[in-house]
Amino acid sequence: MTERRKILVTSALPYANGSIHLGHLVEYIQTDIWVRFQKMRGHECTYVCADDAHGTAIMLKAEQLGLTPEQQIANVKAEHEQDFADFHIAFDNYHSTHSEENRELSAYIYEKLKANGHIASRKITQAYDPEKELFLADRYIKGTCPKCKTDDQYGDNCEACGATYSPTELINPKSVISGATPVEKESEHFFFKLPEFESFLKEWTRAGHLQDEVANKLAEWLDSGLQEWDISRDAPYFGFEIPGAPGKFFYVWLDAPIGYLASFKNYLSKQEGVDVAATFHDYWKPDSSAEVYHFIGKDIVNFHALFWPAMLSSAQFRTPTKVCVHGFLTVNGKKMSKSRGTFINARSYLDHLNPEYLRYYFAAKLSASVDDLDLNLEDFIQRVNSDLVGKVVNIASRTAKFVQKSGGNLSTTIADEALWQQFVEADQVIANCFENREFGKAMREVMALADAANEYIAAQAPWALAKQEGTEQQVLDVCTLGLNMFRALMTWLKPVLPQVAADAEAFLQESLSWTAPIAFRGGEAIGQFKPLLSRVEKEKVDAMIEAGKEALAAQQPAAAPAADSELAKEPLAAEISFDDFAKVDLRIALIKDAQHVEGADKLLQLTLDLGGETRNVFSGIKSAYQPEELIGKLTVMVANLAPRKMKFGTSEGMVLAAGPGKKEIYLLEPHEGAKPGQRVM
Ligand code: 2FM
Ligand code: ZN
Repeated sequence: MTERRKILVTSALPYANGSIHLGHLVEYIQTDIWVRFQKMRGHECTYVCADDAHGTAIMLKAEQLGLTPEQQIANVKAEHEQDFADFHIAFDNYHSTHSEENRELSAYIYEKLKANGHIASRKITQAYDPEKELFLADRYIKGTCPKCKTDDQYGDNCEACGATYSPTELINPKSVISGATPVEKESEHFFFKLPEFESFLKEWTRAGHLQDEVANKLAEWLDSGLQEWDISRDAPYFGFEIPGAPGKFFYVWLDAPIGYLASFKNYLSKQEGVDVAATFHDYWKPDSSAEVYHFIGKDIVNFHALFWPAMLSSAQFRTPTKVCVHGFLTVNGKKMSKSRGTFINARSYLDHLNPEYLRYYFAAKLSASVDDLDLNLEDFIQRVNSDLVGKVVNIASRTAKFVQKSGGNLSTTIADEALWQQFVEADQVIANCFENREFGKAMREVMALADAANEYIAAQAPWALAKQEGTEQQVLDVCTLGLNMFRALMTWLKPVLPQVAADAEAFLQESLSWTAPIAFRGGEAIGQFKPLLSRVEKEKVDAMIEAGKEALAAQQPAAAPAADSELAKEPLAAEISFDDFAKVDLRIALIKDAQHVEGADKLLQLTLDLGGETRNVFSGIKSAYQPEELIGKLTVMVANLAPRKMKFGTSEGMVLAAGPGKKEIYLLEPHEGAKPGQRVM
């Protein structure tokens, strides 16, 4: 085997204001598989990550929840860590960018950039929310597009006509946070002088650190000229104050990648007998022989392949060996969508399905390109069942019992040398696929060999042989080869399926290692076979999608939170015009019938009379009402809401309710004498 490499690996740091979803998991699963592969090959591979804890969004989210930012980031970190652990994402360290290591390293790097003349400062004018007393990033301002006059457009571009503009050009701009009209205000900002790194970056981006398609995209940006990068934000801001600049904070994207270094340093400080400073320096000095791999999504390439290497080189650190960029996840060919139930959080998936199904499916579809990856749910069920259950696990379940029957020890004879040779020859090919992040190709190689193994077993039919006299040795030889082929397949699948591999190891009574080429095992004892993986059930996949839709439906009825509730702290949604409001057709509805919905935790099924017309509506009010108490009541419904298909049927409108939730949800009740079907204004 080749020399032992030192490899530091990172995945992008998830923001501390939201849950991990399947889109995130493409990256963590991809990285984790690569790391597990490197570890199996005997390399010293360290996988670090952290929560990305700073910025306005996290500060506002905490405020909305009535928490301090520190409480908010602690809660989210615990949730993220649990989700990752349950998906078998095995970080060596999971830290936070809001940490002492990161504060020190950010200050250190900033001071270096400054000392090298790479920081500029000047006053700029920005939109400012006079009520909230904070500067507003473009996405916190909405107004009417100056070009096509569409309402409700963000401060930097119009989703309707595609125009780009500055927030000052918006007609009737409003702060998304308070609803106030922004004013212009001047303040001093600090800038990283990126243009000074143009020739360095032109070379670096073509020096084998990036996929070609990524380098080509960057060349377009490099050719059109680099801009100085604004790295400061004014208070109030949740982050690190800039040394020597009271009231000024590092922009979240300055200290986020430094969080990779901070998490690594924190990791080292927890290892016994390690000289933290010396080892850190060994990995991060300019001529380091260690390797650094960043796995990221295609949306954050500029931060990792322009700003980051430029900062590192100015601060006299080494730059990454590789930035590995992947595409986005689509589900059933479309962007993930809450209303289709395909915006699936890690936890919702785990509530219904085995994480290793997804690890395998992603592996089977991943390559080293930046192409998007589609999770087609039909294909997911079919592929996992046919490949893992039908092919791989099946080999062991069809052969193990015969070895057990003949005493439990494997034969020392290789029953079919040519077939086994195919496995031996594939070993390096598969390893190369893993190394080059061509996991899909690796899985295809593995499954082709699984097919060969199954054909061999079917042709030899040990179950039939065993019924004949004097065939004990032959049966044992065939099944020994079967189990050796299974061992090889499981070894190659171990980075993808760590739990199945661990269970297989328990039954094979050996630890599957890959530091040397795969070798035949004979003579030794194996244990009792236990089923390793069950089939994906379509009902469970459907239930996961329905749970997503149900959760969305359950969020919808709270029309106007009571003034004293926690929800009242929620920032107002963007203003809508009177014309927009007038499109909503509110009608008095008589609840003719109300029923529990079998299998739904939050929904009641209502039959509503709109004065002659009957509507079927599913409403997330089960926590607050018994169906019987609703029958005969009048309420108010949105009568012109487009019908929505749900598992339990189609919902044809929405009833209005208010309250903080749980038991306190109150259906709106109209005035006495209101008649079903009357319009409410
Ligand atoms: O895009 C994101 O989700 C960022 N939180 C990723 C940060 S990666 C690194 F630079 F810290
Ligand atoms: Zn427009």
